[in-house]
Amino acid sequence: MTMKIIIIGASGGIGQAFVENCKKRYQGAEIFELSRSQTGFDLTDETSVKQAAEKFQDRDIDMIILATGFLGTEPEKSLRDLSMEKMERIFQINTFGPALVMKHFIPKLARDRKSVFAALSARVGSIGDNHLGGWYAYRASKSALNMMIRSASIEVSRTNKNAVIMGLHPGTVDTSLSKPFQSHVPDKKLFTPDHSASQMLKVIYDIDPKDTGHIFAYDGEKLVY
Ligand SMILES: NC(=O)c1ccc[n+]([C@@H]2O[C@H](COP(=O)([O-])OP(=O)(O)OC[C@H]3O[C@@H](n4cnc5c(N)ncnc54)[C@H](OP(=O)(O)O)[C@@H]3O)[C@@H](O)[C@H]2O)c1
Repeated sequence: MTMKIIIIGASGGIGQAFVENCKKRYQGAEIFELSRSQTGFDLTDETSVKQAAEKFQDRDIDMIILATGFLGTEPEKSLRDLSMEKMERIFQINTFGPALVMKHFIPKLARDRKSVFAALSARVGSIGDNHLGGWYAYRASKSALNMMIRSASIEVSRTNKNAVIMGLHPGTVDTSLSKPFQSHVPDKKLFTPDHSASQMLKVIYDIDPKDTGHIFAYDGEKLVY
């Protein structure tokens, strides 16, 4: 049976690297790419998400990777910097949109074999690991995304024991999202998108459906919530 993979956010730095790495790792697989700039897929518009999902059959997809996200160039350093407009934008892209993607795409996951829905989260969304503060909206939007992932995993496990619903932390990766913040990152800690995507595909490959509902770093570490 031909493996079927959907990459959402295929235009992004990490999304593109997922596409290339899936082509190498899963030769012969059908790979479907969705993105705002290339295919008009807007995850903040439910009609767009629903119409994109309707093109796929239910219970047919092996892997769905959601590689979208937004940080902005001036994440808040202090409470003084909070603005409703910026918080709404970040939550729409990082939390609410991905939740709608889960609503419309998770029913597409295969049930007769292991299948995976993996959304790009971030270590800074871990509440227990937050020792620096700042980046209020981005951190909170990823914490909330992690909760969406957790709740969806519990619901899905009741009907699809073979499905994994998970989050991924890619490391600090050289993309347009991280560009403004790279000066303090040691060289060896700044990954190429290719390296990060290849590591995360290994994590996805190794994961057991019993570990559904968790957030994993690129090296397989299970993150604290
Ligand atoms: N880079 C890092 O160091 C790092 C670290 C931790 C976590 N992450 C997470 O990894 C994910 C990917 O980030 P990246 O570094 O690859 O960033 P990126 O290169 O800026 O890519 C972001 C992607 O999100 C898409 N997107 C944004 N808003 C969208 C919308 N409304 N509808 C559809 N697509 C939308 C963009 O689509 P278009 O370009 O087509 O508009 C693009 O494909 C994000 O969730 C990010 O938070 C990244």
